Order: sequence, then structure tokens, then C-alpha cells
Amino acid sequence: MKEQLRQLKEEFLCLVEKVTDPEALETLKTEFLGRKGKLNAIMKEMASLAVDERRLVGKLANEVKEAIEASYGEARGKAEKAKKAEKAGWERIDVTQPIIPERGTGHLHPVTQVQEELEDLFTSMGFMIADGPELESDYFNFTTLNIPPTHPARDMQDTFYIEGYPGLVMRTHTSPVQIRAMRKWGVPLRMVAPGRCFRNESTDPRHEHTFHQLEGMVIDKGISLAHMKGVLERVAQHLYGKDTKVRMRPKFYPFVEPGVNGEVTCFLCKGEGCRLCKKTGWLEIFGAGMVHPSVLREGGVDPKEYSGFAFGFGLTRLVMLKYGIDDIRHLESGDIRFLKQF
Ligand code: DAH
Repeated sequence: MKEQLRQLKEEFLCLVEKVTDPEALETLKTEFLGRKGKLNAIMKEMASLAVDERRLVGKLANEVKEAIEASYGEARGKAEKAKKAEKAGWERIDVTQPIIPERGTGHLHPVTQVQEELEDLFTSMGFMIADGPELESDYFNFTTLNIPPTHPARDMQDTFYIEGYPGLVMRTHTSPVQIRAMRKWGVPLRMVAPGRCFRNESTDPRHEHTFHQLEGMVIDKGISLAHMKGVLERVAQHLYGKDTKVRMRPKFYPFVEPGVNGEVTCFLCKGEGCRLCKKTGWLEIFGAGMVHPSVLREGGVDPKEYSGFAFGFGLTRLVMLKYGIDDIRHLESGDIRFLKQF
């Protein structure tokens, strides 16, 4: 009898593989587990067994029944899904099929291309690449960066709050990764963190709810503004050529002191003044500064011993400048006619 039970299970497992229609699966199950089914037919003979033997066979019969039910459930789930997909008219995609060369294989998004180019540059200078969550805590996005709940600086970045989760926001900048990185890796630290950011903007050619930044941070003993300028000049020259100059002017950011607004000579007019640079000869591409002592402390770093600088590039802005894109909304539109140009 035990052998019969085992065979019954094997038979079902073998048959169930071949059936893809939900109704046919049901019929198959009834054939095996129904009142007049095959399993019951075997069980009828159990009465003739000795008590001990009956117990063993009963246990095995249960196991067989469970195995059959489980594989039925799995097959049924698959069959229903397939049927639904077919009804909805989804095409079946065979991922093992070789590509059709005329159709091409697509390529990386222009933002990803520029991001990877910068990642290469920064890793060549000994920076690590860090990552942080897009759904960030209010605490990391603002408070640890020297922007407490009632501080007017919160008005600088209009935020998406999450309904039902008062402590969470869609991060408005990549700067919270500064704190995460200090806490995780300690000092000395050299990292860049590219990523998506979100703001509650009324969208227009220059504003978008979703955009990209690239954050950077260097902390060690004796780091000064001169190091900062050196690194940022190197980046600017990599992007726009050897004769590119960087100028920094004071600007308030709560998490740095002093804070600066960084500009590079316009690559189009070489500083003469044109439409792109609005006749100024300069293009604003980053914010930066010496990390504020209270931000260092939030990261678990002693500001008496260590100093550092941080910077944030508008990655989306770099891409727009590089390719002469005049409307930021193209970048997140997913419009294939736009994307094909890069
Ligand atoms: N987080 C700032 C923003 O989104 C940019 C920024 C400014 C980043 C100065 C920095 C910095 O690291 O030092 O506007």
C-alpha cells in the first residue's frame, strides 16, 4: 500500500505539469482526491491492516494528500495568472529569445550616463560611492543637517510628506547621505552619493518634482577650503575642458559654514556672456561649503579634531547644460523620441 501511495503522488506530480487550464486542473484534483478518487480507493483497503501498520500508512496518506494539494495550488496560481494575462492581451515575452538586431538594444538614460562619468572621475580620486534611501526620515533630511523643525530654512525646499507617516518625507536633496555615511563609515571619509530627489514644485521648463543630484563629502584632519576648491576645479575641468575656471561666492546653506555657490565659466561663450549663461559668463552648477560643526557632531565626528567640506551638484542641471536641453520635464517623461537622441 505504501508503494501504491508513493506512486499515486508521482503520478499526480507528473500529470499536473502538463495541465495549464484551471478547470482541467480542478478535474485532475478530483480524480485523485475526490470522494470517489484514487486516494480514497487505496484508503478503503486500510481496514484490513494491523493497527500499527494502519497508523504508518495513514500518516503517509496524509503526506501524499498534502503534497498533491500543494502542487495543485501552485499550478492553479500559475494557470490563473496566465489566463488573466492572456485576457488582458499581454504579450508573452520569451526572455531567452535572441534580440532582433534591427530593433536595437536601447541605452542608458542621459542622466545615468553623466552620473557614471562622474562616478568614474570621483573613484579615480579615491572617493567611494554611497547610497541613501529616497524615502527619508524628516530627521535625516532636515534636523541632522542643522534645519530643526521650526527653522525658516525649511521653507527653502518644499517637500512631499507621506500620508499616515508623519516622520517620513521624499528626500529633497542628497545631503542626508552625509550623515548616514559618517555614521556608517566614520572618518576619514571621502564619498559621493548620486541619486534622485523630490520637491513639491509647480512644474515648468526649469522646475520638476523629480530630479537628480550628486552629493560629495571629504572629512579628515586639516581639510580646508583650498582642498575643496582643488577638487571642484578638477571636476569642472573634467566636464568642460582644461581652461574652465571655478568661482565661489558666499551663499547660505544651513549645513555648511561658510557656504558657497559654485559657478564655472560658461563653456559655450567661454566667459564672454551669451544666452546660456544669461550674459554673465558664468554657470551655476553646485552648492558647497565647510561642513558645519553641528553636522559633524550629528555624524559622530569630533569637530575639534576633524574638518571637511561637502558639495552638491545639480546632476540634472549638468545634463541639461551638456546637451542643451531647454525643458527639464523631458528628462522624466519617458518619451522615447526624446531619449533616442542620446
Ligand atoms: N543640498 C543643497 C540643495 O539641495 C545643495 C548643497 C549645498 C549640498 C551645499 C551641499 C552643500 O553638500 O555643502 O540645495
